[in-house]
Amino acid sequence: MKLQQKEKLKLFVSSRLIQKKVRKIAKKISRDYKNKVPILIGVLNGSFIFISDLVRELKIDIEIDFLKLSSYGDSKISSGEVILLKDLNCQIEGRNVIVVDDIIDSGLSVKYIRDLIISRKPASLEFVSLLLKDDVNNLDFDIKYVGFKIPNKFVVGYGLDYAQKFRNLKQIYILKH
Ligand code: IMP
Ligand code: MG
Repeated sequence: MKLQQKEKLKLFVSSRLIQKKVRKIAKKISRDYKNKVPILIGVLNGSFIFISDLVRELKIDIEIDFLKLSSYGDSKISSGEVILLKDLNCQIEGRNVIVVDDIIDSGLSVKYIRDLIISRKPASLEFVSLLLKDDVNNLDFDIKYVGFKIPNKFVVGYGLDYAQKFRNLKQIYILKH
């Protein structure tokens, strides 16, 4: 991978560890949703790799759909504003919904998603996030399935980008400038 001179990547979570964690989360979800058919909702773009690995480890029937929110743009800091760029195509009323996110930083996106989904009256709603930053504040609900709690560093790879780059890396790296 050709990097711009000013960008340095430091390995943070190896693909072996990611794989192990994905299997562990999938096992829990398969157990918790036995005999149900949950709808998994991937939050684009960041969760596209995580959700595709996750669903292939599930031992239950599921449905899948996607939401797209505004990104950070080319910044490493949240703009503080969330915009819905792509809504769901499916009906979620009365359904068991599981939102699959790549990383929770400020918690703003996940709060926005929660309000949106609750307003449509699902039977249940839980969140999965591969990564959860220490910094998250005032989350007044639980993230039931968390892969790794991480310090407040900017990370890329395994779906996560910086200015749309690095999503295709197999492992998770800390981005240093
Ligand atoms: P939040 O709304 O501040 O919790 O940010 C959530 C979204 O911002 C995530 O779903 C990511 O798309 C993006 N994001 C937050 N932190 C990082 C990071 O360290 N690397 C890459 N993207 C990030
Ligand atoms: Mg995201």
